[in-house]
Amino acid sequence: MSWREDAKRRAALEAAKKVKDGYIIGLGSGSTVAYAIRELGRRIREENLKILGVPSSYKTFLLAVKCGVPLTTLNEHPLLSLDIDGADQIDDDLNLIKGMGGALTREKIVAAASEKLIIVADETKLTSSLGRGQLLPVEVLPFALPLVADKIRRIGGKPRLRERKDGSGPYVTDNGNFILDVDFGVIEDPMDLESRLKRIPGIIETGLFIGVADEVFIGTQSGVKILKRKM
Ligand code: A5P
Repeated sequence: MSWREDAKRRAALEAAKKVKDGYIIGLGSGSTVAYAIRELGRRIREENLKILGVPSSYKTFLLAVKCGVPLTTLNEHPLLSLDIDGADQIDDDLNLIKGMGGALTREKIVAAASEKLIIVADETKLTSSLGRGQLLPVEVLPFALPLVADKIRRIGGKPRLRERKDGSGPYVTDNGNFILDVDFGVIEDPMDLESRLKRIPGIIETGLFIGVADEVFIGTQSGVKILKRKM
């Protein structure tokens, strides 16, 4: 296992320790949180841990089923005890860019439904400024694509329609929408950019997660570092 995979795994396993009997857990998406989901499956089997999970993507849903993590919905449990998720970039204030895996909208909804959000990542995800060397994923209603792309250009972004890996057409989210990966360069004021983007009709959600993460578990080359949001 590479040091990075090892770091991701260590961070995820540390976060999984925070899960207690009776918790309703938000299950994020991506390769880091997948380690936490497998660990929760192990704890359910070996420690008789009693939890229910709300998955944030179809991929996570399938993994949770495979690992034996019992699932529920926001209809049955609109309030979640804890959400564990990954991130693509994390700044000093624990603001995030998420969505390179395409699950940003459901991830943001699950995070908003949770009393607490723990992010798990390896140390390569840390940055002094969001947007430095990182595109911002934005989920867009297909009907609105040309309008949204134009409006994004007008506020200084360079949008690129995400393609499927096999080149067979646009990538389609679990919600049936497209993703624009937008180069904004360094994002000086993430909150301002978020509110400008949210005013464009046809944008379903952005990958900016501002003031949402409570704690970040960072897998380093030698251990796990826990960062807490300043109140
Ligand atoms: C999914 O849409 C993303 O927000 C993921 O949480 C993010 O891309 C992190 O994924 P990895 O853990 O695979 O890096």
